[in-house]
This record gives sequence, C-alpha cells and structure tokens, in this order.
Amino acid sequence: MTVPVGALVIGSTNAAIGLPAAMAVLRGGGSAMDAVVAGIRPVEANPDDHSVGYSGLPNLLGDVELDASVMDGRGLRSGAVGALRGYQDAIVLARAVMDELPHAFIAGDGARRLAAELGLSPRDLRTPEASAIWQRRIEGIDPSDDDLARARRLVSRVSRDPELPELPEPPHGTVNVIARDADGTIASGVSTSGWAWKYPGRLGDSPVVGAGNYADDRYGAAACTGRGEMALRCATAHSVVMFLRFGMDVDAALRTAVGDLNALDDPYASEVNIVAMDASGRHAAASTVPHKTYVWMDESTDAPVEASRHHVSAESQS
Ligand code: GLY
Repeated sequence: MTVPVGALVIGSTNAAIGLPAAMAVLRGGGSAMDAVVAGIRPVEANPDDHSVGYSGLPNLLGDVELDASVMDGRGLRSGAVGALRGYQDAIVLARAVMDELPHAFIAGDGARRLAAELGLSPRDLRTPEASAIWQRRIEGIDPSDDDLARARRLVSRVSRDPELPELPEPPHGTVNVIARDADGTIASGVSTSGWAWKYPGRLGDSPVVGAGNYADDRYGAAACTGRGEMALRCATAHSVVMFLRFGMDVDAALRTAVGDLNALDDPYASEVNIVAMDASGRHAAASTVPHKTYVWMDESTDAPVEASRHHVSAESQS
C-alpha cells in the first residue's frame, strides 16, 4: 500500500499516457472530476490502445461500441454511456450525462444523439490496424449471418478480452483513473471499447456504477478492467468500497474482492484487475492473474510511477 502526498491520481497501466494531464489539473487546483476526464481523454485518443476509444477493437459485426462512466465521490453523483458509436469522447459524454441530464445512464442511439447535441466531433473509430486484428480472428466466418443462434455461437468462440497477451503487445484493456484533489474529494472514471468481437449491444462492467466503477468520499473508490461479466456479477467496485467502509484496509479490501471473483463459476473467465484508493489516499491494486501493474502520480512525482498489483490466485481462496 502506497502512502500518498496531497493530491494524487492512480490508474490502470495504460492510463500512464494520461496521468500527467490529470496531475496537471490537480496541481492547478482543479477538481478530482476534471482530473479524471483529463486523464482518460488521451487514452481514448491513443491509436495504439485497442481497448479504449479510437482504434478500439470492433464487435462481432465490425462496429466499435464504447462504454464509459464517471463517479463523483462527493454526493455520489454519476454518469454513464453505453454502446456509443461514432464518437471517441465517451468519458466527456458520461460526465455530460451526470452534469446535464436528470439521468445516470444513456445507451445506444440516445448516447450518439447526446454527443451530436453537445457538438462533439463524430469520428470513424476503426483504424486499419484494429480492423486487421478484427479480421484475422474472424477470417472465414460470415459475421453478418442473420441466424441468431449462429451469432451466439460465434460470440462464444471468438469474443475476447483485449487485455489477453495473445493480442498484439503491449496488452491494454480498458482504462481506469481515480483522482483525489486537494479538498479530499475523490472521483473515478472508466472508459472502454469492451470485449472485442462482442455481441452487438453488449455492455460490460465499465459503464455500470457499482460493477466497474465506484467512488464515495467517505470510504474510497475502486475501478476495474478485464472480464466485465465477472465484475458485474460480483458488484466488484462497490464491494471494495464497502469492504473499506466496514474497516478493511485497501490491501485486504482488494484481496477479498478478488477472492470473490475467483470463486465465480464462469466458463469464459479470463481476468479481472482492480485499482483502489481509500478516503485518505492510500492506494493499491490487485489482479486475478500474476505480474500485473498499475500507475500513480502525486505531488512528489513528475512522471507516472509503475507499481505491482497483488496477485490473488484462485488456489489461495480455497
Ligand atoms: N471491463 C471491460 C469490459 O468487460 O468490457
């Protein structure tokens, strides 16, 4: 568990590209929510990251669908978008849902409509590289076959977590950012293109408050990457914050939450990773698989620091 100095920001390893922007917001006296959005936008724009925003890997039919959420730990305000097509800035839109609408979650055509109303720039999210990765896996299969049973079988065979090492290096998979500002307010954000080759319209944990993202200033915050169906079933981010509420430290809260994930009966189980911070800014991260890292910055650092995650194996839970 790392002890912080003042304002700080933590994230999944692929957030390293955005953490300096997030920390600049905090150093300038900006809010934790501003820092979260500033930290995630560069990841959504990164063409080398095939799990988030522009250049994300497409669904079964070749369309890129983005999910994102934000949560403000002061007052438990939240906003989310799901299955967003044709716009890169999913995290900006999630924040707009929180700030501009009397709602917490907008999906599909409504999310796209809101993006247009807010004047966000439409963009074809498919890049040649991501399309080639998509094409290689689906070679010889006709994904437009309208036999629904066949589509379901296809998803089971080909849909993958983009974090898996069999996909091109460096492995990325969804982005998490949690920030704590000088006032002690904590905010969290998650953005993803979700599982590649997923069934159209599939939503993972990332846009679902409580599953992939949760923040409560009184206790702390947590956010997830990896197989969203597992975090959805365990309400993982909320569980971590509740474990903090009931007296565990960050390490124990993470280990307990990962233990729950490892107990799931899931024929498609791959991995889940969690970053977490308590109300005073102590932070750590955990994973169901070994050798994973996360990143953090605080007022004493001028670049992201990469740190190890706890690995909680299934065996250690039995
Ligand atoms: N955790 C990202 C997803 O499953 O879509």
